[in-house]
Amino acid sequence: MHDILTVTFRWLHIASVITLLGGILFARFAVAPAIANQPNLAEAIAARFRPIFYGSALLAVLSGVYNFLQKVHPPKPYHAIFGIKMLLVLHILAAGYLALKPNQPKRNRQFTGIVISGLVIVALSAVLRLISNVPVLVTP
Ligand code: HEM
Repeated sequence: MHDILTVTFRWLHIASVITLLGGILFARFAVAPAIANQPNLAEAIAARFRPIFYGSALLAVLSGVYNFLQKVHPPKPYHAIFGIKMLLVLHILAAGYLALKPNQPKRNRQFTGIVISGLVIVALSAVLRLISNVPVLVTP
C-alpha cells in the first residue's frame, strides 16, 4: 500500500510540474513570439492557462509535501538544498500569479524567470533524489 502511494504521489508531482513548466515554456518561446501583435489573443490564452497554472501548482505543492514527509533521515545537505528549492518555488508561484493577471505588460519577462527557476529546481531535485538514496551509516 505504501509503495502504491509513493509511486502515485511521485507521478502526481512529476505530472503537475511538467504541466506547469512545459506550459509556461511553450507560452514564452512558441506562443508569445507568434502572437506578439495580437494582444487580445494573448489575453485569451493567459485566461485559459490561469486555472491550469493554479491547479498544477496546487498539486505540485501537495504532492511535494507528501514526498518530503517520506524522507525519514535525509543526509545533511538535503534540507539546505530543499530550502533553496522552496525559495525558487515561491518565485515561480509569485511570478506566475503576476504574469497571468489580465493586461500584464511584463508577462514575457516573468515567464522567462519562471522557466529559469523551474530548470534550476529540476536540477536541484535531481541532486535531492541522488543524495536521498545514499545509505546513511547509523552508528550504535
Ligand atoms: C514548480 C515547482 C516544482 C518543480 C519543477 C519540482 C520538480 C521536481 C522534480 C523533477 C523532482 C524529481 C522527481 C523524482 O525523481 O521522483 C522532484 C522531487 C521532489 N519534490 Fe519537487 N518540484 C516542485 C515543487 C515542489 C514543492 C512545492 C515541494 C514541497 C513542498 C517539492 C518537494 C519535492 C520532494 C520532497 C521531492 C523528492 C526529492 C527526493 O527524491 O528526495 N517539490 N521535484
